[in-house]
Amino acid sequence: MTPATARRDPLGDAPVPRPGRRRARWVSNAVLKPVMAVTGSIMGAFVLVHMVGNLKAFQGAEAYNSYAAWLRDVGYPLVPHDGVLWALRAVLGVCLLLHVTAGLTLRLRGRRARGAFRRRGLRPAALGAGSMTVTGGLVLVFVVVHLLDLTIGRLVCPASFQEAARSSGQVTAHAYENLLASLSRPGMAVFYTLIMLTLGLHLAQGLWSVAHDLGATGHRLRTLLAVVAVAAALAVAVANGALPVLVLTGVIS
Ligand code: HEM
Repeated sequence: MTPATARRDPLGDAPVPRPGRRRARWVSNAVLKPVMAVTGSIMGAFVLVHMVGNLKAFQGAEAYNSYAAWLRDVGYPLVPHDGVLWALRAVLGVCLLLHVTAGLTLRLRGRRARGAFRRRGLRPAALGAGSMTVTGGLVLVFVVVHLLDLTIGRLVCPASFQEAARSSGQVTAHAYENLLASLSRPGMAVFYTLIMLTLGLHLAQGLWSVAHDLGATGHRLRTLLAVVAVAAALAVAVANGALPVLVLTGVIS
């Protein structure tokens, strides 16, 4: 027997929801899309800046550690020690929470709206968009492992882990030593490199969606934005992805 809330489509088997019986949404898709675009862009900008910071590893321990120490003391004495770093952590934390919540909500709504129907014969570009939940999930797993490994430290990193220490107002960071200790483990190095390729895919598709969401029209503008999205994603995937390989092979030591 057909449920009271649904009728039958006269041309097929699909149930047709009765008009006026939809539940009110806690937030509209028109809000969720810009939230995804803004938070994704902020996190994307962080990833690009972090990648530039990681390139300091090519200059050796002193350059990398000075950069890590500077991160902790940037803005001092105008702001307290670690002040800017904690502000950045707070902004990124909020962005991550909003981005994941909005992304999962949109994905769930899309699935409900399609009902029993499945999309078939998608072009490769559309498949990229379809893999966003999977690539995003993998990057999220990476962020948790990465923080446990290199920021919180002791849980994953070997015993050689040393925290940034402050003596007589000077910060001594050991980010370079921690980086080498972490990426000298083959499993961790392979994990990092694979995730950087995944992150590249996620970034390319995400930045391209931002261009859509901002209403970019016109062939030239759209081509330019597509090139920017792919270039940024490639830079992150190649520069970050190469680092673990270079550490593992002893080129960076
Ligand atoms: C090969 C790639 C990467 C390397 C070698 C790397 C390296 C590092 C290192 C050494 C630190 C600790 C810095 C310090 O102690 O001062 C760090 C922190 C961090 N990384 Fe990465 N990272 C990489 C990719 C990423 C990616 C792709 C993301 C984000 C998606 C990310 C997010 C973070 C965050 C959120 C922190 C914590 C900053 C803090 O709160 O102190 N990293 N990374």
